[in-house]
Amino acid sequence: MKTLSSKQSNTKPFELLLDQDRIARRIAELGTEISRDYAGQSLVLVGVLKGCLVFLADLMRQISLPTEIEFISAASYRKGIRQEEDVILGGGVSIPLKGRHVLMVEGIVESGKTIAVIAEKLRKMEPASVSIVTLLDKPSSRRATVDIKYKGFAIGNDFVIGFGLDNTQQYRNLPFIGRLVDH
Ligand code: IMP
Ligand code: MG
Repeated sequence: MKTLSSKQSNTKPFELLLDQDRIARRIAELGTEISRDYAGQSLVLVGVLKGCLVFLADLMRQISLPTEIEFISAASYRKGIRQEEDVILGGGVSIPLKGRHVLMVEGIVESGKTIAVIAEKLRKMEPASVSIVTLLDKPSSRRATVDIKYKGFAIGNDFVIGFGLDNTQQYRNLPFIGRLVDH
């Protein structure tokens, strides 16, 4: 088990779930797959902030296609681990998506509510296609119907942190994925 340094407040014990090498290898595979599937086309990556941050930065560098980047922000966990609230969207894409191939980039999909709400919003802009890539998926927590085209790893119902994912806005900077213990 690892703990954060004492310099960081609000520490919670966690265990390593996915190490950096494993994540990097999987992201390279996803990039290859996406580049193959969309060969000859250009792509608009729409990152869902803030959890997409690290994943998107790594994934985009593994995609060998003309690619534009846009962001939309969503908050569904507003006060910690289990207090789920309605999805609140902020920002939005600043380019026309009509006729474009859109790939939404998420850090983690749990109930599917966040990504479903955003996909619905993007579809109204009449893109040629809207697909989803997520680094992590918690399939047993699904409550909305979402079709995830690309996923890094399916995980259990543990609360995970790091690689862009937070617990009360902390831990996003961890370079690996950890699993909170005793929460
Ligand atoms: P959904 O709407 O239930 O699919 O939740 C998706 C959002 O919840 C993600 O964008 C994350 O912000 C957050 N979330 C869900 N599970 C976790 C987790 O294990 N760690 C950190 N954030 C999580
Ligand atoms: Mg969060």
